[in-house]
Amino acid sequence: MKTTVVSLKQQKVNAEKITMLTAYDYSTAKLMDEAGIEILLVGDSLGMVMLGYDDTLSVTMEDMIHHSVAVSRGAKDALVLTDMPFMSYQTSVYDAVVNAGRLMKEGRAQAVKLEGGAEFAPHIRAITEASIPVFAHLGLTPQSINAFGGFKVQGKSDAAAEKLIADALAIEEAGAVAVVLEGIPSQLGKTITEKLSIPTIGIGAGPDTDGQVLVYQDMLNLYGKFKPKFVKVFAEGGAVFGEGFAKYIEEVKSGAFPSAEYSFK
Ligand code: KIV
Repeated sequence: MKTTVVSLKQQKVNAEKITMLTAYDYSTAKLMDEAGIEILLVGDSLGMVMLGYDDTLSVTMEDMIHHSVAVSRGAKDALVLTDMPFMSYQTSVYDAVVNAGRLMKEGRAQAVKLEGGAEFAPHIRAITEASIPVFAHLGLTPQSINAFGGFKVQGKSDAAAEKLIADALAIEEAGAVAVVLEGIPSQLGKTITEKLSIPTIGIGAGPDTDGQVLVYQDMLNLYGKFKPKFVKVFAEGGAVFGEGFAKYIEEVKSGAFPSAEYSFK
């Protein structure tokens, strides 16, 4: 069944958990779609896991469009959600609408995601009025690492938790269809989830959010630079790839590959 912003809301009502993984290319998106994932997030994390930057700040609109359209070709049932990169929406409400439109038209996204709370309510409202569904992203928002002083858990003090709750209510009121909650205490993830009528999707936000998301290189142990506490490795993809590469090199060097079976008469 095709995932839509309407079916996601119904999943929250039915208490059926929502599954989301990042995807950045056609083949991986197709595998995930066939496995039954409900949302494919073309995250700006692609700057780190695909392009090798240390953070997400250098990612451009062109990068996002390039990867989003590839993912959209591999997605049959999953909803394609594409991140608005750093400085594609912070500059003005006008820029936010234009760039969200580009992600839909050129990137074939079915919804867009932006980082931030109440201060971006006007942007969320304007994008929504252009018939583009918006996911918000609160908590440890990676585009703000320089302001946070690093990748640090957010919402730990009472005041910070209250601010995040107020932000969540503001983005819902502005028309956001869902919110990603990243790097916050589990209890705060639960509280926000209970207060909102739109779905919450957690990453390092505990077990009580309406859904979960992980970066696929993390859950398959393909990245290896660092492993946040909230990441569970579901398969040792890095080891499997590494073995395959080593075996290929060995067989080419020894002449075992290509044998007759892999050659034309
Ligand atoms: O860019 C990304 O991968 C994300 C997830 C961490 C939620 O925004």
